[in-house]
Amino acid sequence: MDPKKAVGFAAGAVAAGLAGAGLAVAGAPAAPGNTAIGKELFVRSGLFCASCHTLKAVGSTGRDGQNLDEARPSYATIVEVVTKGRNPSRRWPTGMPGYGGPHGEVPKAEIDDIAAFVYTATHK
Ligand code: HEC
Repeated sequence: MDPKKAVGFAAGAVAAGLAGAGLAVAGAPAAPGNTAIGKELFVRSGLFCASCHTLKAVGSTGRDGQNLDEARPSYATIVEVVTKGRNPSRRWPTGMPGYGGPHGEVPKAEIDDIAAFVYTATHK
């Protein structure tokens, strides 16, 4: 990456972080995103979250990935894992596909919606 671009990128990331902090102070939810849309996306047949993950809130019983009710991932973890995927690891032979990468079909706003839904559903 050219150093000028790298600096610009870092500044952008800091600005985004500050904007996020500002929202939190203003009383926005800790898990920004639309949970109703997130729920719909979670069970959408093209995304398959429900086929790989157990989550009581949608009655899914997938077993390729973690039981999300037990894992109770943080909002940041959900955003990151859904965006980038998790490599096919020792524990889970299939790994998890990334949805936000260069070939990603899911826009960032929808990933936030999914994360808001999963986070809220597992942190009651
Ligand atoms: C092909 C099966 C598969 C699909 C589809 C899938 N996952 Fe996963 N998911 C996995 C596996 C396997 C892991 C564990 C990967 C690892 O740890 O190496 C995982 C990990 C995760 C984690 C991290 C949990 C933690 O505690 O670290 C979250 C959150 C998650 N998935 C949410 C989702 C969501 C939301 C969707 C839909 C957008 C989805 N997954 C679709 C298989 C899948």
